Amino acid sequence: MDISKHLNSSELDSSDKQPLYMQIAILIADKIRRQILQPGTKLPPERELAELFAVSRTTAINAYRHLEQQGLVWTKVGSGTYVAQAREVESLSEVPWPQLFTAYPQNPITSILRDLVSTPAPGTISLAAGMPDPALYPMETFTELFNRNIGKTDPAHFGHIPTEGYTPLRKAIAVMLSEKGIPTSTENILTLTGSQQGLYLLSKVILEPGDYVVMEAPTFIGAIQVFQAAGARVLSLPYSEKLSLELLEDFLIRYRPKLLYMIPTYQNPTGRVLSEHDRQDLIKLAKRHRLVIVEDDPYSDLCYGEQPPQALKALDSYGGVVYLGTFSKILFPGLRTGYLVGPPILINRLALEKQFVDLHSNNIAQWLVTMFLNEGMLPQHLTTVRREYKKRRDTMAKALQRLCAHQIEFNLPQGGFFFWCKLKQAVTSQRLLQEAAKNRISFVPGEAFHTVPTHDKEFRLCFTTHNEAVLLESVQRLSKTLIQISKKTIDSDEQSCSIWPII
Ligand SMILES: Cc1ncc(COP(=O)(O)O)c(C=O)c1O
Repeated sequence: MDISKHLNSSELDSSDKQPLYMQIAILIADKIRRQILQPGTKLPPERELAELFAVSRTTAINAYRHLEQQGLVWTKVGSGTYVAQAREVESLSEVPWPQLFTAYPQNPITSILRDLVSTPAPGTISLAAGMPDPALYPMETFTELFNRNIGKTDPAHFGHIPTEGYTPLRKAIAVMLSEKGIPTSTENILTLTGSQQGLYLLSKVILEPGDYVVMEAPTFIGAIQVFQAAGARVLSLPYSEKLSLELLEDFLIRYRPKLLYMIPTYQNPTGRVLSEHDRQDLIKLAKRHRLVIVEDDPYSDLCYGEQPPQALKALDSYGGVVYLGTFSKILFPGLRTGYLVGPPILINRLALEKQFVDLHSNNIAQWLVTMFLNEGMLPQHLTTVRREYKKRRDTMAKALQRLCAHQIEFNLPQGGFFFWCKLKQAVTSQRLLQEAAKNRISFVPGEAFHTVPTHDKEFRLCFTTHNEAVLLESVQRLSKTLIQISKKTIDSDEQSCSIWPII
């Protein structure tokens, strides 16, 4: 098992008072406790650990010694250093927590989402998380709305509300969606603590272990995790500009999947937009098979060119499309306010499930978003963020073209948050990420968006979180990394050539 991908030199801080050996030991201990490094895993030899973190061999030896003293690793003379067995690790705490936990899918990507949103090492430019720029959050508007309205609002609005959501927000969302060609009424809407919660609730009320779901590959990590945690078996539709309806129909006939999960507009991670024609054909096929389509649509308002085609939900003639929307990408993610659109019978069942989770979503956020919508502030805000993100996309595309085009291919996304890139050289994106960490730049390797581990060459860059100057710096760091890695690849190719027999 190559564990070097879990150990990242960019997480060290040389300005920190804590010695480097201790920082390395803490990093490894954290991965052991979170079971990212499983008992019995062989850790890199001291020399490799030193190289990985760009520290001296003595520092690496001291890090292992410290971990050994804590009982987290053990050394077998002549063989190497290993992660200690769970029993040995557990005996260090008073309560054997891991023994009490219910089964959790041990999937290589389970910790990725958490790592993505955690603070990157100092000085690192992270293009990993799909986040809007905090400088563009409409803070002044929200402050003004709060100050102007808090005294006038009946405090009862801040007590318990129906699980289905804050009724004025459900109404405002219904109006907003109807204007977009998705005829909806309040009873069709469930407000959510982020659309991620919608995926979770759907998995709870629809999926049982062993059920099949169809997903594109690659696709959104959060959806993969939720469906896999429910025990679903994933059938993958390989990514292409054109949806493979033949393969989908084959899946429908052979496996009778419970649902199809799709991001038709500015897909995460590829940025792909499903054509109008494909959308119509997909709806026809789904209608024939009475297939439930979960349409996840966080990005369609963020278009930088021509308008995308209408949502699948707008074409839904059989009541089978469940639509998920969110304010995370267009306003800010900490609002944790999203929504699901579906038939009342489904809304009702989901609300029963939601009661177990949080009774209802946060009223203050829902109240603020309602005023934002009802006072007509969304269109102006969207104009501002679209203009800014379009500039960033163009700046980054030019820089990538100028500095990295020899080593990578990439698309020009027409909306959303991401560049989807493909390495031309013979290295994996995981390997590139390790090397990039040394140049203090990070992104998400393509493997994270697949259900089956592949040694792939793709990776995702988010262009919305940082301003143009930072994006330019990030491309320079990426380009430096690509040049360094191609030199290393050539060197190692030459070395390996010299030991191959000539036949
Ligand atoms: C495709 C997709 N769906 C859902 C979400 C989750 O959004 P929320 O913040 O509303 O939970 C994201 C966020 O990255 C996403 O990219």
